[in-house]
Amino acid sequence: MPTDTADDPYLRARLRVTEDPEGYWLDAARAVDWIQPPTVALDASQAPLHRWFPDGTLNTCFNAVDRHVRDGHGDRPAIIHESPVTETSTTMTYSDLLRAVSVCAGAMRRLGVARGDTVLIYMPMVPEAVVAMLACARIGAVHSVVFGGFAANELAARIDDAAPTLVLSASCGVEPTRIVPYKPLLDAAVAMSTAVPPRCVVLQRPMQTAALDPARDLDWHDFLALGADQPAECVELAATDPLYVLYTSGTTAKPKGIVRDNGGHAVAMTWALPNIFDVGPGEVMWAASDIGWVVGHSFIVYAPLLTGATTVLYEGKPVGTPDAAQFWRVVERHAVKALFTAPTAIRAIRKEDPDGSGAAVARLDSLQTLFLAGERLDPATYEWAGQVLGVPVVDNWWQTETGWPIAANLRGLAPMPIKPGSPTVPVPGFDVRILDTDGREVGPGQEGAICLKLPLPPGCLLTVWGDEHRFRSSYLSAFEGYYATGDGGFVDEDGYLQVMGRTDDVINVAGHRLSTGAIEAVLTGHPAVVEAAVVGVHDELKGQLPHGFITIRSEPAVDREQLRTELVALVRDRIGPVASFRTTTVHQALPKTRSGKILRKVLRDLHDGAAVDVPPTIEDPAVLERIRQELHTR
Ligand code: COA
Ligand code: AMP
Repeated sequence: MPTDTADDPYLRARLRVTEDPEGYWLDAARAVDWIQPPTVALDASQAPLHRWFPDGTLNTCFNAVDRHVRDGHGDRPAIIHESPVTETSTTMTYSDLLRAVSVCAGAMRRLGVARGDTVLIYMPMVPEAVVAMLACARIGAVHSVVFGGFAANELAARIDDAAPTLVLSASCGVEPTRIVPYKPLLDAAVAMSTAVPPRCVVLQRPMQTAALDPARDLDWHDFLALGADQPAECVELAATDPLYVLYTSGTTAKPKGIVRDNGGHAVAMTWALPNIFDVGPGEVMWAASDIGWVVGHSFIVYAPLLTGATTVLYEGKPVGTPDAAQFWRVVERHAVKALFTAPTAIRAIRKEDPDGSGAAVARLDSLQTLFLAGERLDPATYEWAGQVLGVPVVDNWWQTETGWPIAANLRGLAPMPIKPGSPTVPVPGFDVRILDTDGREVGPGQEGAICLKLPLPPGCLLTVWGDEHRFRSSYLSAFEGYYATGDGGFVDEDGYLQVMGRTDDVINVAGHRLSTGAIEAVLTGHPAVVEAAVVGVHDELKGQLPHGFITIRSEPAVDREQLRTELVALVRDRIGPVASFRTTTVHQALPKTRSGKILRKVLRDLHDGAAVDVPPTIEDPAVLERIRQELHTR
């Protein structure tokens, strides 16, 4: 890390944000078009709950769409929809986007959606989904996008929690080998929900249309027709008004609704894109993720559009749609400057094309950086990507809750030497501290809980939707005055952060965050299962895969193979295919502490064949040897 503050923009930014946070963030806020510009950056009157830009008013959609048209950039591509699974590629300019969003927002109004109402979006990677998000922002409705790979049960949990006035969906999604009918999942979810949404709008896709319930459902085109003669203008919103709720997995089966505001979010996004990702107006950013995840919200939708850049919306996979060269074709075709994906996507490409021949034949001179996040970046993937692409491979560490990178190599502000295995340094505004179990800060090289000293910078979660108590208990209560990230790690002598992994029961499967508690709840729901412990075991492609360790009833006897098949089907049905749950082993007993807590880390190490650190509090050490044998004879 550089040491001379005067010469280094990174150190200057860190110094200023520490010494004069008000001035620093009010300056950053100038990149946003406010209706009422804020005179105050931080409201700490309710600490530890903080609010950013309390007296500012704005509209996020205006900043993401209207102002670029106003400034003469209406012909600039806003969204490039690249869809190898439907063999289509379409471009929407900022003027096209403005028209579409105004009409969609007008239609929502006609259906009675008002400021502060929630709208749930359960759609595949189609431009209409982005239009719907922006339309909500335009009229002050709060969107909640749900990832398409979740099952009806998970969708129902989100419908119940968000209680949407309106659901926007589609007849189907298109996966490489099959059509996924979304409408039956939506119908099943609504049937399970207590908060029944009054209206559902369905985008009929030609690959598979859906039957509509005339009392509740509306075809997307009929819906838009409602707004055609009454397009909606942007409403004035308080910076502190909620923009969206995005559900993420916690340690329990119930997902947490992460709430983001309008003002702080707009400031954070407009700061992040040029300073971290080095992408400016008119340049092309491609975040190969899904709008159902935070990467999609921040770096497919909001940051590129707020900046006036062009975003690629990709409906496909890194491999199989049609092959491992597809990413590089898209980069070439659209002159992508920054590509952002998860390490698992690169591992998938490498597996199919180890020599990188797909990248070798593509013209990739537009590509300046490959950004990777969502899970730990393993050295082999880092090396391979760097060699094949010949550009810096930049790890960045963050989470749904923060909404933008906590640690990164800031390619726009001040690029730094890359250390493989480290996401580099804290982004200015994130005050990263490593704490021991007693809450004491530890020195360089010492591992502990990675925490963020409050206040969090703009753009991070404000609370958990409808449950402030859960916000406090999940994040703020472990260490007073700090936000606990749930990750463990250390800062080295050079100030570089190393993230070692979750310290709780959250796992990362192909860059997707899952709660082992939620999977355990499904397994113990099977009548034959007594106890279940799910751990994330090592997988070459997906980083981690969930593996179930179970004990079963002795009577009535069950066929174990049959049971395993049923459990796989049950998890697929209750959580969704995205959980990639495939393996279970049956045991006589699970290892526990004397107070009855299952030793999940011990189970993971036993499974992966790693050295097992046996805690002295273990109830019966003999269980370990039995499990080892049972794992071998499965
Ligand atoms: N709608 C419906 N089903 C979906 C879905 C969606 N949007 N996304 C995934 N699924 C299904 C898949 O079809 C698959 O079902 P299957 O078990 O019947 O095959 C299952 O969920 C698992 O999907 P996925 O995680 O995509 O695994 P995969 O084996 O199909 O592909 C990779 C493996 C590595 C190619 C893929 O995981 C990938 O592209 N990862 C990148 C992850 C990423 O971008 N993460 C976001 C953070 S940046
Ligand atoms: P999500 O909220 O789905 O983005 O998942 C966030 C979690 O993914 C973090 O708490 C980490 O455990 C993990 N994660 C994300 N990015 C990285 C990274 N660059 N390195 C290591 N772990 C990461």
